[in-house]
Amino acid sequence: MSIDVGEVIAVRGVKITLHIFEESNKETLFYEGKKLKGVSIQEHVGIRRGLREIVCIIEGEYLDERRTEDSSGGNNRYVRLVEARPIGYFEGDTFTEGIKHLPMIKDPAFLLSEDSVSSIYSPASDDGFVIGRTIKEDVEISLPWQRLFNSHIGIFGNTGSGKSNTLARLYTTLFERKRDAILGKSSFVIFDFNGEYTGGQLVAKEDKRVVELDTRSKDGLGKFPLTAKEFWDLETLSVLFQATAMTQRPFLNRMISGRMSYQGNPDSLSNYFKATFRRSFTSAAQKPETLDLLRTISRSLELLDLLHLLEDVSWHSTQNKFQVPSRPNFFFDPESTRYTEYFGSQVESSVIPDLDGFGELELRINLQMINDLLQGYVQFDHIQPLLKRVESGMRNLRKVVEISDVSAEETLVTVVSFRSCNQEVKKVLPLMIAKHYYYEHRDSVTYPPEHTLHLIIDEAHNILSEQSIRDQESWKDYRLETFEEMVKEGRKFGFFVTIASQRPADISPTVVSQVHNFLIHRLVNDRDLFLLDNTISTLDNLSKGLIPHLSQGACVVTGTSFDIPMVLQIDRLDENLQPDSADVDLEMLWSD
Ligand SMILES: Nc1ncnc2c1ncn2[C@@H]1O[C@H](COP(=O)(O)OP(=O)(O)O)[C@@H](O)[C@H]1O
Ligand SMILES: [Mg+2]
Repeated sequence: MSIDVGEVIAVRGVKITLHIFEESNKETLFYEGKKLKGVSIQEHVGIRRGLREIVCIIEGEYLDERRTEDSSGGNNRYVRLVEARPIGYFEGDTFTEGIKHLPMIKDPAFLLSEDSVSSIYSPASDDGFVIGRTIKEDVEISLPWQRLFNSHIGIFGNTGSGKSNTLARLYTTLFERKRDAILGKSSFVIFDFNGEYTGGQLVAKEDKRVVELDTRSKDGLGKFPLTAKEFWDLETLSVLFQATAMTQRPFLNRMISGRMSYQGNPDSLSNYFKATFRRSFTSAAQKPETLDLLRTISRSLELLDLLHLLEDVSWHSTQNKFQVPSRPNFFFDPESTRYTEYFGSQVESSVIPDLDGFGELELRINLQMINDLLQGYVQFDHIQPLLKRVESGMRNLRKVVEISDVSAEETLVTVVSFRSCNQEVKKVLPLMIAKHYYYEHRDSVTYPPEHTLHLIIDEAHNILSEQSIRDQESWKDYRLETFEEMVKEGRKFGFFVTIASQRPADISPTVVSQVHNFLIHRLVNDRDLFLLDNTISTLDNLSKGLIPHLSQGACVVTGTSFDIPMVLQIDRLDENLQPDSADVDLEMLWSD
């Protein structure tokens, strides 16, 4: 069916040497009107062995001399030899991967047709899920999407190597081909740290919701909706305000359960406030720190009359109680009526304004602190940093999080852009949003899962990095552990992540080890290459050797969903579908 181009001259283990006929050294050959590629490195040849055709990849070539004797004495001729490695065989039309049959000397080698090459890499149930072509033969390869999207996917490569474009190509193709079938069964959430997917990428506008989080503008643009139930949750609050496990989390927990127990009562918050106020000045063991906390509360609730009264109060350190220094001998003794005399009905009559979730949190956290101090549950110094974080974090979080009980309508794709978020918010919010989706999905899913959730994180080192000088140690552990749990446990629940990153070596090894399919673009850093060596068992030496030299948009595709590693040049998307990541064109920018 095809032309013979050479023959086997040596077989050493799985290393096969072929002698290539001289006329086959051209780049392109024609046979029966079909164009065939000549034999060169990284290309495929077939070797006929009985009824089977063994498929080999060319790994190297060299010249060998052959001495022919004639009348004039010795005469050297050179012949071209190539080294090949078998990767599988055709029996009839079906390709089977693996070395079961090896050729023998004198077996003929021939060129494979395009169809044969593409059927090596595409599964039998080929339905045209094409995102690119083999780099050498230029043959379209259809990917086994059935096995690809139910695994965690890693897209790695240096900046500018084409990761974002590959990611966009992969999912654009998925939605182009399967949108109708997927709708209502799966949802896709994209964490977009650079605002690359907020335009017309991936999927039509009506299937896409873009949440642009912005801490720079005054009110924020888009807000991420959380239900009250989710917000008043130990996990959520601990994440948002980075509570430490030892003392701050139990503290938050007391606050949350206190809220829960009195939730049914009307005015429970206002009663709580008034009772706490009274307790601060009538307790037998008063605490100096409560005064400042009460001032903070009065200030943020704009209870100015109260604030005014509090300004005249101070702590008497030998008597260990509060006093009003401007009035002679005016101590807030527990048994006395001083509290009523001084504050009168001012506290009782004060009205707490309507508060949003954050406002309520600030109030409750201060009240909890006062009560805990009075009861001797906590040390001021342990909890105070948390109060400060709430106070400062709130300002930013209010711009990007909204606590409301109307949940956003379901869309196929949700893009959450963190492009305009400050570091503080970038640090906590992705984790919180990931948890939001993960737990919601986990708690609603049946077994086996009838819904799947796909979390796609471009620039994943932002949140999955092991090195971070900014983070506190405990927070870093918590952040990583949470993601690691999601990645480890997620698959059972139909929760899959796709991570793209320029520094795979920085990403938590636990996460990387759970990734089963890889698209690896050009990577040059030794540490990254070393990591690939150690974590990707399906990568062969030849493809590995290529990784530092791949051109833009070319990648090695390997993993458990692919029989054999392949090197693909990913097709470019139309301009309006490409991620907004193009290199700056200085020639344009600096043209006069
Ligand atoms: N498949 C491709 N074919 C050709 N050029 C590409 C391809 N993918 C990316 N490029 C080029 O590389 C540049 C960077 O791509 P990008 O996907 O943003 O890289 P990364 O996300 O790895 O930083 C693009 O602007 C484009 O010029
Ligand atoms: Mg990118």
